[in-house]
Amino acid sequence: MTHKSLFIVLDGIDGCGSTTHSQLLAAFLEHKKHFKVHLTYEPSKSEIGKILRKFLKNKEIPPTTDALLFAADRDLHYHNEIKKKLDDGFIVISDRYIESSIIYQSIQSDKISIEWIKELNKFIGYPDLTIILDIEPKIALARKNEKYLEKFEDTSFLDKVRKLYLSRAINEGYHVINSDDIIEYVQEKIQKTVLNMLNS
Ligand SMILES: Nc1ncnc2c1ncn2[C@@H]1O[C@H](COP(=O)(O)OP(=O)(O)O)[C@@H](O)[C@H]1O
Ligand SMILES: [Mg+2]
Repeated sequence: MTHKSLFIVLDGIDGCGSTTHSQLLAAFLEHKKHFKVHLTYEPSKSEIGKILRKFLKNKEIPPTTDALLFAADRDLHYHNEIKKKLDDGFIVISDRYIESSIIYQSIQSDKISIEWIKELNKFIGYPDLTIILDIEPKIALARKNEKYLEKFEDTSFLDKVRKLYLSRAINEGYHVINSDDIIEYVQEKIQKTVLNMLNS
């Protein structure tokens, strides 16, 4: 197998398993397939990412502020981390990326268009492969500890979020994988999709 850089994003509604599967995929590609792998996530570990994680627990923050900060965090994340790793021949896996902003911020406010979010994010590089993990919000939320739910995590809101993920996935050509199944089986489907891409 030839070693080449590839930028992969796992995304989907809260509780879809993006963190679980990003970690499993990174371990698989690194230890079983011997690629150089860089695993990362959004909000990133930068200072802006840290502010964003606090804001995710605060319902008083306007969605426009979230959108601006997510874009700043991503711009920094892409230029100072992701791009460098790709240039060094790594496979970069990001647990969430611009698709999360497009969906979550635009759904919360009529003022926020998808076009505006894309404009804010216009200097970033786009993933080679985006995988949307799809699951019913009720099942996704049941997997999470109620005590730690963030502001986006309620079923009626997540129903809208899920619909937008699915309709955009069709238009943008993203891979949709059903994640309402045992972890190992879902992970196997993700691995197959990624290996297909690496071999093509
Ligand atoms: N296929 C699955 N079956 C059962 N539990 C799962 C599955 N995928 C993930 N989980 C569990 O669900 C919770 C949420 O998963 P996580 O990966 O944190 O989701 P996300 O990062 O998308 O919010 C975690 O406790 C995780 O262990
Ligand atoms: Mg997560």
